[in-house]
Amino acid sequence: MNEYDSALVRSILAPHGFQSCASAQDAEVILVNTCAVRENAYRKIYGLLDKLRPLKKQKKSFVVGVLGCMAQNLKEELLAHPVVSLVVGPDNYRSLPGLIEQSITSGDCGIDADLSEYETYSDIAPARVEGVNAWVAIMRGCDNFCTFCVVPYTRGRERSRSVADILDEVRAAAAAGFPQVTLLGQNVNSYSDRDGSFADLIVRVADVPAIRRVRFTSPHPKDFPDDLLEAIAAHPNICKHVHLPLQAGNDRILGLMGRNYTRREFVGLAERIRDRIPGVSLTTDIIVGFPTETEGEFLETFKVMENLAFDSAFIFKYSERKGTIASRKFADDVPPDSKTDRIVRLFDLQKRISSDKNRARIGSLEAVLIEGPAEKKPDHQVGKSDGGTTVIFPATPEAPGSFARVRIREASSTTLYGEAM
Ligand code: 5AD
Ligand code: SF4
Repeated sequence: MNEYDSALVRSILAPHGFQSCASAQDAEVILVNTCAVRENAYRKIYGLLDKLRPLKKQKKSFVVGVLGCMAQNLKEELLAHPVVSLVVGPDNYRSLPGLIEQSITSGDCGIDADLSEYETYSDIAPARVEGVNAWVAIMRGCDNFCTFCVVPYTRGRERSRSVADILDEVRAAAAAGFPQVTLLGQNVNSYSDRDGSFADLIVRVADVPAIRRVRFTSPHPKDFPDDLLEAIAAHPNICKHVHLPLQAGNDRILGLMGRNYTRREFVGLAERIRDRIPGVSLTTDIIVGFPTETEGEFLETFKVMENLAFDSAFIFKYSERKGTIASRKFADDVPPDSKTDRIVRLFDLQKRISSDKNRARIGSLEAVLIEGPAEKKPDHQVGKSDGGTTVIFPATPEAPGSFARVRIREASSTTLYGEAM
């Protein structure tokens, strides 16, 4: 979402004469787009701001702005940092040209962090960086208020863009040469427009000529509709990949998290997805050490992960976020050592599962959308399989954005290796 928002910001700034430059040293303005979901995102940003201190001293005119969810959340607190002169939240990017101008001409500091119920930036064509994937935000904000999550406070109320605007943007991305779009929303299943539901939308996106792959993230397990499963199953260019955040495998913890499903319901849904979409790649998010989580309750999460055998998982330690329901209601009482111990056990489990699953694909032929040269392997290219796994193979004459048919020869827990046929 931040990558998408950064493209909107570039587009908002371009008509005012701002151009991207290669290094911080050359820049007159630096905008840092931030995340607030976990504590380590905060740490990274403060580290980056501290690194900019010498530049601030050297340069006569130098404006540093913090954008995104941290800006929304911390406001004045961020402005207190000696290098920061602007703090602008996710719904206020239209004010950027004026605020930057003011800051350059009169040295003023400024904050604009008012959440809006309507802003979707739908009239702004994002200035994307090159690549094969175009992110397309189909909605903004979130109304779910999962108790651990800061997003409803930093991105505000949920609002959907119109089907027509989204299709225009997808057509423009296709015309600009992007073969893949990824539709983005905090809960795509609650997308709603008078012209249709998310399932209607994704089918229309898949029908846009020259769009070779459609991905989406994320659906919420509480309301996964059947027609979406049918749409994925029926359309060859909708990738067979569902990212379904489980968060925890114990019903008491799921209740405290405000997730609105039980372990049984989640497992039933995962089975239904696998049944309807043969070969689907199923991935998830997990939080360990939510307040009051016991060892026994954690083991239930472990068991669900073992039984469901996700293709991959993002696993996080619970990180208390200011202002969330959990921070007001529960003490962050699982000791750091227990959180570490639990996350390590899940990492190990998932590594074993992902390795086994990837090894089972040795010998298969995968359709790989080529992204470019492989970073660490000279003369190799890298791309993604339909299910989203990284595939590396000796370079073909094909350019990024084309497909390669790759016979898999080796596998690790994260990567498949093979040769193009
Ligand atoms: N602590 C740890 N992980 C969190 N996530 C969201 N909020 C928190 C938090 N406070 C994780 C969830 C979500 C993913 C994007 O980030 O697993 O699905
Ligand atoms: Fe956060 Fe829950 Fe909304 Fe996802 S659905 S953004 S976890 S509140």
